[in-house]
Amino acid sequence: MGRLIVVSNRVPSPRERTQPAGGLTVGLKDAVRGVESLWFGWSGEYSDDVEHQKPNLDKVEGVTYATIDLTTEQHERFYENFSNGLLWPLCHYRIGIIDFHREDLRVYREVNALFADQLVPLLRPDDTIWVHDYHLFPLGEELRKRGVKSKIGFFLHIPFPPWSVTRVLPCAAEFLTDMTSYDLIGVQTDEDAHNMSDCFHMCGLEKDVHAFPIGIDPKEFAEQAISSLETPEVNRLRASLRNRKLIIGVDRLDYSKGIPERFHGYEALLKRYPEHINNVIFLQITPVSRGGVASYQALRRELDELAGRICGDHADFDWTPIRYLTQPVPRHILASFHRLADVALVTPLRDGMNLVAKEFVAAQDAENPGALILSHFAGAAPEMSEALLINPYDSDDIADALNTALTMPLDERRRRWETLDEEVTTRTAAHWAHGFLVKLQESNDTP
Ligand code: G6P
Repeated sequence: MGRLIVVSNRVPSPRERTQPAGGLTVGLKDAVRGVESLWFGWSGEYSDDVEHQKPNLDKVEGVTYATIDLTTEQHERFYENFSNGLLWPLCHYRIGIIDFHREDLRVYREVNALFADQLVPLLRPDDTIWVHDYHLFPLGEELRKRGVKSKIGFFLHIPFPPWSVTRVLPCAAEFLTDMTSYDLIGVQTDEDAHNMSDCFHMCGLEKDVHAFPIGIDPKEFAEQAISSLETPEVNRLRASLRNRKLIIGVDRLDYSKGIPERFHGYEALLKRYPEHINNVIFLQITPVSRGGVASYQALRRELDELAGRICGDHADFDWTPIRYLTQPVPRHILASFHRLADVALVTPLRDGMNLVAKEFVAAQDAENPGALILSHFAGAAPEMSEALLINPYDSDDIADALNTALTMPLDERRRRWETLDEEVTTRTAAHWAHGFLVKLQESNDTP
Protein backbone atom coordinates (compact mmCIF):
# COMPACT_ATOMS: atom_id res chain seq x y z
CA MET A 1 0.00 0.00 0.00
CA GLY A 2 1.17 3.56 -0.72
CA ARG A 3 0.87 6.42 1.72
CA LEU A 4 -2.06 7.11 4.00
CA ILE A 5 -3.51 10.58 3.48
CA VAL A 6 -5.55 11.75 6.45
CA VAL A 7 -7.73 14.82 5.95
CA SER A 8 -9.45 16.61 8.83
CA ASN A 9 -10.24 20.20 9.65
CA ARG A 10 -8.35 20.05 12.94
CA VAL A 11 -4.73 18.90 12.77
CA PRO A 12 -2.66 18.59 15.95
CA SER A 13 0.51 20.66 16.09
CA PRO A 14 3.17 17.98 16.19
CA ARG A 15 5.56 20.09 18.26
CA GLU A 16 3.28 21.32 21.02
CA ARG A 17 2.66 19.58 24.29
CA THR A 18 -0.85 20.87 24.96
CA GLN A 19 -2.91 19.60 22.07
CA PRO A 20 -6.39 20.67 21.08
CA ALA A 21 -8.89 18.65 23.08
CA GLY A 22 -11.21 16.34 21.17
CA GLY A 23 -11.55 12.72 20.21
CA LEU A 24 -10.55 13.13 16.58
CA THR A 25 -6.95 14.20 17.06
CA VAL A 26 -6.53 11.82 20.00
CA GLY A 27 -7.76 8.76 18.09
CA LEU A 28 -6.05 9.63 14.82
CA LYS A 29 -2.68 10.50 16.25
CA ASP A 30 -2.33 6.95 17.47
CA ALA A 31 -3.61 5.64 14.16
CA VAL A 32 -1.06 7.36 11.88
CA ARG A 33 1.91 6.44 14.04
CA GLY A 34 4.33 4.14 12.24
CA VAL A 35 2.63 4.44 8.82
CA GLU A 36 4.02 6.64 6.04
CA SER A 37 1.39 9.32 6.05
CA LEU A 38 0.40 12.86 5.26
CA TRP A 39 -2.10 14.67 7.47
CA PHE A 40 -3.83 17.56 5.71
CA GLY A 41 -6.04 20.23 7.27
CA TRP A 42 -6.48 23.75 8.58
CA SER A 43 -3.42 25.46 10.08
CA GLY A 44 -5.42 27.30 12.73
CA GLU A 45 -4.23 30.54 11.01
CA TYR A 46 -5.87 33.11 8.75
CA SER A 47 -4.72 34.87 5.59
CA ASP A 48 -6.40 36.94 2.89
CA ASP A 49 -5.23 35.18 -0.24
CA VAL A 50 -5.90 31.52 0.45
CA GLU A 51 -6.20 30.44 -3.19
CA HIS A 52 -2.57 31.19 -4.03
CA GLN A 53 -1.08 29.83 -0.84
CA LYS A 54 1.16 26.77 -0.70
CA PRO A 55 0.41 24.22 2.06
CA ASN A 56 2.82 24.48 4.95
CA LEU A 57 4.69 21.15 5.28
CA ASP A 58 6.21 19.86 8.51
CA LYS A 59 7.52 16.30 8.79
CA VAL A 60 7.69 14.82 12.28
CA GLU A 61 8.32 11.12 13.01
CA GLY A 62 7.30 9.91 9.56
CA VAL A 63 4.11 11.98 9.39
CA THR A 64 4.02 15.01 7.09
CA TYR A 65 1.63 17.62 8.44
CA ALA A 66 0.33 19.75 5.54
CA THR A 67 -1.77 22.68 6.61
CA ILE A 68 -3.47 25.60 4.91
CA ASP A 69 -4.87 28.90 6.13
CA LEU A 70 -8.47 30.04 5.84
CA THR A 71 -9.76 33.58 5.50
CA THR A 72 -11.50 35.04 8.54
CA GLU A 73 -14.78 34.92 6.60
CA GLN A 74 -14.25 31.24 5.81
CA HIS A 75 -13.45 30.52 9.43
CA GLU A 76 -16.62 32.24 10.54
CA ARG A 77 -19.00 30.81 7.95
CA PHE A 78 -17.48 27.37 7.36
CA TYR A 79 -16.18 26.48 10.84
CA GLU A 80 -18.22 28.49 13.32
CA ASN A 81 -21.56 28.89 11.59
CA PHE A 82 -22.10 25.93 9.28
CA SER A 83 -19.97 23.21 10.90
CA ASN A 84 -20.43 24.09 14.56
CA GLY A 85 -23.57 26.25 14.59
CA LEU A 86 -25.54 23.88 12.35
CA LEU A 87 -24.07 20.43 11.59
CA TRP A 88 -22.81 19.80 15.13
CA PRO A 89 -26.14 20.44 16.90
CA LEU A 90 -28.06 18.68 14.12
CA CYS A 91 -25.94 15.54 14.42
CA HIS A 92 -26.33 15.71 18.21
CA TYR A 93 -30.14 15.73 17.82
CA ARG A 94 -30.45 19.40 18.88
CA ILE A 95 -32.57 20.86 16.08
CA GLY A 96 -33.87 23.53 18.48
CA ILE A 97 -30.57 25.42 18.34
CA ILE A 98 -29.56 25.11 14.68
CA ASP A 99 -29.04 28.15 12.52
CA PHE A 100 -29.10 27.68 8.72
CA HIS A 101 -28.04 30.35 6.20
CA ARG A 102 -27.45 29.72 2.49
CA GLU A 103 -24.40 31.98 2.55
CA ASP A 104 -22.80 29.73 5.19
CA LEU A 105 -23.54 26.68 3.05
CA ARG A 106 -21.91 28.40 0.06
CA VAL A 107 -18.74 29.05 2.07
CA TYR A 108 -18.79 25.50 3.52
CA ARG A 109 -18.74 24.17 -0.04
CA GLU A 110 -16.09 26.73 -1.01
CA VAL A 111 -13.77 25.54 1.77
CA ASN A 112 -14.29 21.90 0.78
CA ALA A 113 -13.33 22.87 -2.79
CA LEU A 114 -10.29 24.77 -1.45
CA PHE A 115 -9.18 21.70 0.53
CA ALA A 116 -9.46 19.62 -2.67
CA ASP A 117 -7.56 22.20 -4.78
CA GLN A 118 -4.76 22.38 -2.24
CA LEU A 119 -4.57 18.65 -1.57
CA VAL A 120 -4.61 17.30 -5.13
CA PRO A 121 -1.07 18.49 -6.05
CA LEU A 122 0.30 16.63 -3.01
CA LEU A 123 -1.26 13.30 -3.99
CA ARG A 124 0.29 10.22 -5.62
CA PRO A 125 -1.76 7.62 -7.51
CA ASP A 126 -1.19 4.83 -4.99
CA ASP A 127 -2.23 6.89 -1.95
CA THR A 128 -5.20 5.91 0.17
CA ILE A 129 -7.24 8.90 1.31
CA TRP A 130 -9.14 8.99 4.57
CA VAL A 131 -11.42 12.00 5.17
CA HIS A 132 -12.70 12.79 8.67
CA ASP A 133 -15.74 14.38 10.15
CA TYR A 134 -18.65 16.67 9.47
CA HIS A 135 -16.58 19.62 8.27
CA LEU A 136 -15.76 17.66 5.13
CA PHE A 137 -18.86 15.70 4.06
CA PRO A 138 -18.53 16.78 0.36
CA LEU A 139 -14.73 16.51 0.10
CA GLY A 140 -14.72 13.06 -1.54
CA GLU A 141 -16.90 14.32 -4.37
CA GLU A 142 -14.69 17.43 -4.78
CA LEU A 143 -11.65 15.15 -5.13
CA ARG A 144 -13.41 12.92 -7.65
CA LYS A 145 -14.34 16.02 -9.71
CA ARG A 146 -10.62 16.77 -9.89
CA GLY A 147 -9.88 13.31 -11.24
CA VAL A 148 -8.69 11.55 -8.08
CA LYS A 149 -9.03 7.79 -8.60
CA SER A 150 -7.57 6.58 -5.31
CA LYS A 151 -9.60 4.84 -2.67
CA ILE A 152 -11.32 7.45 -0.53
CA GLY A 153 -12.85 6.57 2.82
CA PHE A 154 -14.87 8.77 5.16
CA PHE A 155 -15.27 8.46 8.91
CA LEU A 156 -17.76 10.43 10.98
CA HIS A 157 -16.62 10.93 14.57
CA ILE A 158 -19.92 12.32 15.84
CA PRO A 159 -23.40 10.75 15.97
CA PHE A 160 -25.60 10.54 12.88
CA PRO A 161 -29.29 11.12 13.60
CA PRO A 162 -32.32 9.45 11.99
CA TRP A 163 -33.92 10.80 8.81
CA SER A 164 -36.65 12.62 10.78
CA VAL A 165 -33.86 14.85 12.19
CA THR A 166 -31.47 14.85 9.21
CA ARG A 167 -34.13 16.06 6.77
CA VAL A 168 -34.31 19.35 8.69
CA LEU A 169 -31.05 20.22 6.92
CA PRO A 170 -32.10 21.85 3.63
CA CYS A 171 -29.12 20.34 1.77
CA ALA A 172 -29.34 16.86 3.34
CA ALA A 173 -30.11 15.07 0.07
CA GLU A 174 -27.31 16.92 -1.78
CA PHE A 175 -24.80 15.98 0.91
CA LEU A 176 -25.88 12.36 0.90
CA THR A 177 -25.60 12.27 -2.89
CA ASP A 178 -22.05 13.69 -2.67
CA MET A 179 -21.15 11.11 -0.07
CA THR A 180 -21.83 8.24 -2.44
CA SER A 181 -18.39 9.15 -3.93
CA TYR A 182 -16.68 7.58 -0.95
CA ASP A 183 -15.61 3.94 -1.27
CA LEU A 184 -16.34 3.33 2.37
CA ILE A 185 -18.23 5.26 5.04
CA GLY A 186 -17.60 4.51 8.70
CA VAL A 187 -19.43 5.73 11.79
CA GLN A 188 -19.01 5.04 15.49
CA THR A 189 -21.96 2.80 16.40
CA ASP A 190 -24.52 0.44 14.92
CA GLU A 191 -27.22 3.01 15.69
CA ASP A 192 -25.38 5.65 13.61
CA ALA A 193 -24.84 3.15 10.79
CA HIS A 194 -28.50 2.26 10.78
CA ASN A 195 -29.54 5.93 10.76
CA MET A 196 -27.21 6.91 7.93
CA SER A 197 -28.08 3.88 5.76
CA ASP A 198 -31.72 4.73 6.22
CA CYS A 199 -31.08 8.37 5.17
CA PHE A 200 -29.43 7.16 1.94
CA HIS A 201 -32.38 4.92 1.35
CA MET A 202 -34.89 7.74 1.96
CA CYS A 203 -33.08 9.80 -0.70
CA GLY A 204 -33.26 6.91 -3.20
CA LEU A 205 -29.52 6.22 -2.85
CA GLU A 206 -27.71 2.96 -2.16
CA LYS A 207 -24.75 3.05 0.21
CA ASP A 208 -23.38 0.68 2.82
CA VAL A 209 -22.36 2.24 6.10
CA HIS A 210 -20.32 0.34 8.68
CA ALA A 211 -19.66 0.88 12.38
CA PHE A 212 -16.02 1.14 13.52
CA PRO A 213 -15.96 2.21 17.18
CA ILE A 214 -12.85 4.32 17.79
CA GLY A 215 -10.46 3.63 20.67
CA ILE A 216 -7.32 5.03 22.30
CA ASP A 217 -3.74 3.88 22.81
CA PRO A 218 -4.34 2.46 26.31
CA LYS A 219 -0.76 1.38 26.86
CA GLU A 220 0.66 4.83 26.21
CA PHE A 221 -2.02 6.50 28.34
CA ALA A 222 -1.43 4.10 31.24
CA GLU A 223 2.30 4.77 31.04
CA GLN A 224 1.69 8.52 31.16
CA ALA A 225 -0.66 8.05 34.10
CA ILE A 226 2.06 6.25 36.04
CA SER A 227 5.07 8.30 35.00
CA SER A 228 3.44 11.66 35.83
CA LEU A 229 2.33 10.62 39.33
CA GLU A 230 5.16 12.50 41.01
CA THR A 231 4.97 15.71 38.96
CA PRO A 232 4.38 18.92 40.96
CA GLU A 233 0.83 19.27 39.60
CA VAL A 234 -0.19 15.78 40.61
CA ASN A 235 1.46 16.07 44.01
CA ARG A 236 -0.41 19.32 44.59
CA LEU A 237 -3.74 17.78 43.68
CA ARG A 238 -3.09 14.75 45.89
CA ALA A 239 -2.05 16.88 48.86
CA SER A 240 -5.08 19.15 48.45
CA LEU A 241 -7.51 16.23 48.64
CA ARG A 242 -6.50 15.43 52.22
CA ASN A 243 -7.91 11.90 51.90
CA ARG A 244 -11.20 13.03 50.46
CA LYS A 245 -12.56 11.09 47.50
CA LEU A 246 -12.07 12.59 44.05
CA ILE A 247 -14.71 12.68 41.33
CA ILE A 248 -13.35 13.80 37.97
CA GLY A 249 -14.99 15.18 34.82
CA VAL A 250 -12.96 16.08 31.71
CA ASP A 251 -14.66 17.53 28.64
CA ARG A 252 -14.40 20.27 26.05
CA LEU A 253 -16.79 23.04 27.05
CA ASP A 254 -19.61 21.73 24.88
CA TYR A 255 -23.37 21.48 25.42
CA SER A 256 -23.37 17.92 24.08
CA LYS A 257 -21.35 16.82 27.12
CA GLY A 258 -24.17 17.33 29.64
CA ILE A 259 -22.08 19.39 32.07
CA PRO A 260 -24.94 21.41 33.64
CA GLU A 261 -26.83 18.13 34.04
CA ARG A 262 -23.75 16.68 35.75
CA PHE A 263 -23.57 19.64 38.13
CA HIS A 264 -27.24 19.16 38.98
CA GLY A 265 -26.60 15.45 39.58
CA TYR A 266 -23.71 16.26 41.89
CA GLU A 267 -25.81 18.78 43.77
CA ALA A 268 -28.52 16.12 44.16
CA LEU A 269 -25.86 13.85 45.69
CA LEU A 270 -24.98 16.50 48.29
CA LYS A 271 -28.64 17.00 49.14
CA ARG A 272 -29.74 13.37 49.22
CA TYR A 273 -26.57 11.79 50.58
CA PRO A 274 -25.21 14.48 52.93
CA GLU A 275 -22.66 12.06 54.38
CA HIS A 276 -20.51 12.92 51.34
CA ILE A 277 -20.38 16.62 52.22
CA ASN A 278 -16.80 17.57 53.00
CA ASN A 279 -15.68 14.02 52.12
CA VAL A 280 -15.64 14.41 48.35
CA ILE A 281 -14.20 16.84 45.79
CA PHE A 282 -15.54 17.17 42.26
CA LEU A 283 -12.87 18.35 39.80
CA GLN A 284 -14.33 19.42 36.46
CA ILE A 285 -11.75 20.27 33.79
CA THR A 286 -13.44 21.96 30.86
CA PRO A 287 -11.16 23.70 28.33
CA VAL A 288 -13.03 26.39 26.44
CA SER A 289 -14.01 25.26 22.96
CA ARG A 290 -15.48 27.07 19.92
CA GLY A 291 -15.76 30.27 21.91
CA GLY A 292 -16.91 32.22 18.82
CA VAL A 293 -20.19 30.27 18.59
CA ALA A 294 -23.15 31.79 20.48
CA SER A 295 -24.44 28.51 21.97
CA TYR A 296 -21.00 27.85 23.46
CA GLN A 297 -20.83 31.33 24.95
CA ALA A 298 -24.26 30.78 26.50
CA LEU A 299 -23.13 27.46 27.97
CA ARG A 300 -20.08 29.09 29.48
CA ARG A 301 -22.23 31.70 31.20
CA GLU A 302 -24.59 28.99 32.44
CA LEU A 303 -21.74 26.93 33.90
CA ASP A 304 -20.07 29.94 35.51
CA GLU A 305 -23.32 30.74 37.23
CA LEU A 306 -24.16 27.17 38.18
CA ALA A 307 -20.72 26.34 39.58
CA GLY A 308 -20.75 29.60 41.56
CA ARG A 309 -24.24 28.96 42.88
CA ILE A 310 -23.56 25.35 43.92
CA CYS A 311 -20.35 26.39 45.66
CA GLY A 312 -22.12 29.29 47.38
CA ASP A 313 -24.93 27.06 48.61
CA HIS A 314 -22.85 24.08 49.76
CA ALA A 315 -19.27 25.19 50.46
CA ASP A 316 -17.89 25.48 53.96
CA PHE A 317 -15.06 27.65 55.31
CA ASP A 318 -12.60 24.87 54.55
CA TRP A 319 -14.27 22.95 51.73
CA THR A 320 -15.36 23.76 48.18
CA PRO A 321 -17.58 21.12 46.57
CA ILE A 322 -16.63 21.84 42.94
CA ARG A 323 -13.31 22.82 41.43
CA TYR A 324 -14.23 24.09 38.01
CA LEU A 325 -11.41 24.85 35.53
CA THR A 326 -11.70 26.20 32.01
CA GLN A 327 -7.99 26.10 31.13
CA PRO A 328 -6.54 23.10 29.30
CA VAL A 329 -4.41 20.68 31.33
CA PRO A 330 -1.59 18.78 29.55
CA ARG A 331 -2.53 15.24 28.62
CA HIS A 332 0.12 13.49 30.72
CA ILE A 333 -1.06 15.37 33.82
CA LEU A 334 -4.67 14.55 33.03
CA ALA A 335 -3.71 10.89 32.78
CA SER A 336 -2.43 10.93 36.38
CA PHE A 337 -5.43 12.94 37.58
CA HIS A 338 -7.59 10.12 36.20
CA ARG A 339 -5.50 7.60 38.11
CA LEU A 340 -5.92 9.52 41.35
CA ALA A 341 -9.67 9.80 40.88
CA ASP A 342 -12.11 7.46 42.62
CA VAL A 343 -14.93 8.17 40.19
CA ALA A 344 -15.18 9.50 36.63
CA LEU A 345 -18.40 11.24 35.70
CA VAL A 346 -19.08 11.12 31.95
CA THR A 347 -22.59 12.37 31.22
CA PRO A 348 -23.06 13.41 27.56
CA LEU A 349 -26.55 14.02 26.25
CA ARG A 350 -25.21 12.60 22.96
CA ASP A 351 -21.66 11.71 22.04
CA GLY A 352 -20.11 10.03 19.02
CA MET A 353 -17.94 7.80 21.20
CA ASN A 354 -16.37 9.60 24.21
CA LEU A 355 -12.73 8.71 24.59
CA VAL A 356 -12.49 10.22 28.09
CA ALA A 357 -14.39 7.19 29.40
CA LYS A 358 -11.78 4.91 27.81
CA GLU A 359 -8.89 7.05 29.04
CA PHE A 360 -10.17 6.89 32.61
CA VAL A 361 -10.26 3.09 32.43
CA ALA A 362 -6.77 2.89 30.90
CA ALA A 363 -5.32 5.14 33.62
CA GLN A 364 -6.53 3.08 36.60
CA ASP A 365 -4.44 1.11 39.06
CA ALA A 366 -5.48 -2.56 38.67
CA GLU A 367 -5.13 -3.09 42.44
CA ASN A 368 -7.45 -0.25 43.36
CA PRO A 369 -9.39 0.96 40.32
CA GLY A 370 -11.91 3.78 40.32
CA ALA A 371 -15.51 3.49 39.14
CA LEU A 372 -16.84 4.84 35.86
CA ILE A 373 -20.25 6.51 35.55
CA LEU A 374 -21.29 6.75 31.91
CA SER A 375 -24.28 8.12 30.02
CA HIS A 376 -26.41 5.71 28.00
CA PHE A 377 -26.14 8.27 25.19
CA ALA A 378 -22.37 8.03 24.71
CA GLY A 379 -21.32 5.95 21.71
CA ALA A 380 -19.06 4.09 24.14
CA ALA A 381 -22.00 2.83 26.25
CA PRO A 382 -22.76 -0.37 24.29
CA GLU A 383 -19.13 -1.51 24.69
CA MET A 384 -18.87 -0.39 28.31
CA SER A 385 -21.85 -1.99 29.98
CA GLU A 386 -19.84 -2.66 33.15
CA ALA A 387 -19.81 1.08 33.84
CA LEU A 388 -22.60 2.49 35.99
CA LEU A 389 -24.88 3.58 33.15
CA ILE A 390 -27.06 6.61 33.81
CA ASN A 391 -29.58 8.85 32.09
CA PRO A 392 -28.09 12.37 32.30
CA TYR A 393 -31.53 13.99 32.13
CA ASP A 394 -32.33 12.47 35.54
CA SER A 395 -30.24 14.18 38.23
CA ASP A 396 -31.38 11.66 40.87
CA ASP A 397 -30.08 8.85 38.66
CA ILE A 398 -26.68 10.59 38.58
CA ALA A 399 -26.80 11.12 42.36
CA ASP A 400 -27.62 7.44 43.03
CA ALA A 401 -24.83 6.30 40.70
CA LEU A 402 -22.38 8.67 42.41
CA ASN A 403 -23.32 7.27 45.79
CA THR A 404 -22.96 3.70 44.49
CA ALA A 405 -19.58 4.52 42.95
CA LEU A 406 -18.27 6.30 46.06
CA THR A 407 -19.23 3.38 48.31
CA MET A 408 -18.50 0.48 45.93
CA PRO A 409 -16.51 -2.37 47.53
CA LEU A 410 -13.07 -3.06 46.12
CA ASP A 411 -13.92 -6.48 44.67
CA GLU A 412 -16.83 -5.06 42.68
CA ARG A 413 -14.70 -2.16 41.45
CA ARG A 414 -12.07 -4.65 40.33
CA ARG A 415 -14.53 -6.96 38.63
CA ARG A 416 -16.16 -4.14 36.68
CA TRP A 417 -12.85 -2.51 35.80
CA GLU A 418 -11.30 -5.76 34.52
CA THR A 419 -14.11 -6.20 32.00
CA LEU A 420 -13.92 -2.56 30.94
CA ASP A 421 -10.15 -2.69 30.65
CA GLU A 422 -10.33 -5.73 28.43
CA GLU A 423 -12.60 -3.83 26.03
CA VAL A 424 -10.36 -0.77 26.04
CA THR A 425 -7.22 -2.82 25.47
CA THR A 426 -8.78 -4.83 22.66
CA ARG A 427 -10.47 -2.04 20.73
CA THR A 428 -7.58 0.40 20.43
CA ALA A 429 -7.10 3.31 18.03
CA ALA A 430 -4.71 1.15 16.01
CA HIS A 431 -7.30 -1.64 15.81
CA TRP A 432 -9.94 0.87 14.70
CA ALA A 433 -7.74 2.35 11.97
CA HIS A 434 -6.61 -1.05 10.78
CA GLY A 435 -10.20 -2.33 10.62
CA PHE A 436 -11.33 0.67 8.60
CA LEU A 437 -8.39 0.66 6.20
CA VAL A 438 -8.58 -3.07 5.50
CA LYS A 439 -12.26 -2.71 4.68
CA LEU A 440 -11.48 0.33 2.50
CA GLN A 441 -8.90 -1.64 0.51
CA GLU A 442 -11.43 -4.45 0.03
CA SER A 443 -14.11 -2.09 -1.27
CA ASN A 444 -14.37 -2.33 -5.03
CA ASP A 445 -17.05 0.21 -5.79
CA THR A 446 -14.77 3.10 -6.84
CA PRO A 447 -16.97 5.13 -9.18
C1 G6P B 1 -14.88 16.58 18.16
C2 G6P B 1 -14.99 16.51 16.66
C3 G6P B 1 -13.65 16.85 16.00
C4 G6P B 1 -13.11 18.14 16.55
C5 G6P B 1 -13.04 18.10 18.07
C6 G6P B 1 -12.55 19.42 18.67
O1 G6P B 1 -14.09 15.54 18.64
O2 G6P B 1 -15.43 15.25 16.24
O3 G6P B 1 -13.80 16.95 14.60
O4 G6P B 1 -11.82 18.40 16.01
O5 G6P B 1 -14.33 17.81 18.57
O6 G6P B 1 -13.31 20.49 18.21
P1 G6P B 1 -12.66 21.69 17.39
O7 G6P B 1 -13.83 22.50 16.93
O8 G6P B 1 -11.80 22.39 18.38
O9 G6P B 1 -11.87 21.12 16.26
